[in-house]
Amino acid sequence: MSVEADLAAAGRRLLDPAAPPLERLATIEDPKSSARVFVAARHDAVSGVLCEESVFSLRHYDELLEQVLPGTRYLVGDDNASRQVRLRQLHAAQGWLDAQRTPAAADSEPNMAPGFRAWVSAMAREEAGAILDVLQRRARTGEPVNFVRDYAFLMAWRMARRIVGVPAAERVPGLVRLMVLARNLMRPGPALRLKDELGDAAATLIMLQPLFGLVFGTIVNGAGWMRWLSRKTATPALDAIDVALAMPDIAPHDSLLTALVAVKPGFAQVADYDLQARSVLFELTGALVLIVGKSLSELAAYAISPEGHAAGIDWDALVTRLADTHASQQDHDATVNEMLRLAGGSRLTRTVRNDCQWRGVNLKAGDRVVVLIDAASRDPAAFPDPGRFNPDPARPYITSGPLQGPHVCYGRGIAWTIMREAIAATQGRIAPAGHARLSLFAGLPDDLPFIACRQ
Ligand code: HEM
Repeated sequence: MSVEADLAAAGRRLLDPAAPPLERLATIEDPKSSARVFVAARHDAVSGVLCEESVFSLRHYDELLEQVLPGTRYLVGDDNASRQVRLRQLHAAQGWLDAQRTPAAADSEPNMAPGFRAWVSAMAREEAGAILDVLQRRARTGEPVNFVRDYAFLMAWRMARRIVGVPAAERVPGLVRLMVLARNLMRPGPALRLKDELGDAAATLIMLQPLFGLVFGTIVNGAGWMRWLSRKTATPALDAIDVALAMPDIAPHDSLLTALVAVKPGFAQVADYDLQARSVLFELTGALVLIVGKSLSELAAYAISPEGHAAGIDWDALVTRLADTHASQQDHDATVNEMLRLAGGSRLTRTVRNDCQWRGVNLKAGDRVVVLIDAASRDPAAFPDPGRFNPDPARPYITSGPLQGPHVCYGRGIAWTIMREAIAATQGRIAPAGHARLSLFAGLPDDLPFIACRQ
């Protein structure tokens, strides 16, 4: 069996309420490493592993990044001094931006504040409208719309460009061109071109994808070729951030990049300010371009699929719900979350800090624990009738990782807002082509056929 099949089978076993919270999965351990691998699937066990940072560390992500891009880190990493600097940078930048817009209410996280989300909403509506205006012309020619490339990833790229503020790399690396060529040779339909904004979106995605795959897909040790590919593709993306940090005037005036440069004087004691700021911008660009574009594509594909239909949701119903201006933001968030729960399928990894016993299971320092977010998302103990679409604001949002503690997803409000606006805006503009199915390339969504509607 493959690693994925072994994990899926363990996920099914562990959802049994009588099963232990963790199960050792020796079949997927690396014979060259002494680290044992455990799996968690039940919602309570997954949440426990993600929230109990004193037992389970995120240092595995730091180590994988260090092997490829020394000095670069994600906030998703061990909570050490340099992460604290990045957090302070992000909060200071966010505060600087909020001071120019509606200040956050005292009781809300700044990035979840209504003023901030209204700003993201307005921008998302504008970008979605502009892209759809161009796509609408295809109603006359009959040219198909590829929801993934022409809409989801383009929309995600444009939002990253405005919110984070990092421009596309000046030159597309040769390796990225080769990967696009391989894609064009292997996939039917219109070729992907590295021109204009569609090209910027595709190139940036390809530069970020191998590293994300390495860091979030590796359980013990990453393969040498993955490290090589990640280094080659991600380095030009980091170089583009260095250039942008040196020329902040070219970034949108209300972007995080501009804000990070503006708050720099308050960090006189931080010698490597730009290095840390570069990591923040790199991580947020990656999350926006890759995770939002991918999630938007998967969510649309699920709404069109027989599985979505069986769960009680289809495309038209989803669009109508999200376009309903009388529904509250909480209701829209619940709809997006419920779709992410049903359509998503991710896993995260943690490293055991010290020898210990956790909920009756003996663990050793260095052991890995893989948490299956997709299994936890369908745990009947947390989601009654888990296969049904039931957008209830009281449902937990495990798809965005830990629900509390230092590693709560920073961008969930941004992502939910963009996805809501992007789907609502398609009403009467583009619609799924009959029997449309999502196609993948290199593990990412690649094509989902839509058509432009006649107006
Ligand atoms: C549907 C979209 C998204 C999903 C499903 C998602 C999911 C997650 C998950 C699972 C984690 C926890 C990772 C772990 O603990 O190992 C996380 C953390 C994080 N996410 Fe998101 N995310 C989304 C969108 C975004 C966006 C748009 C941004 C940035 C603008 C973002 C920024 C972050 C950051 C910075 C963290 C790390 C928090 C920390 O450790 O301090 N995310 N996200």
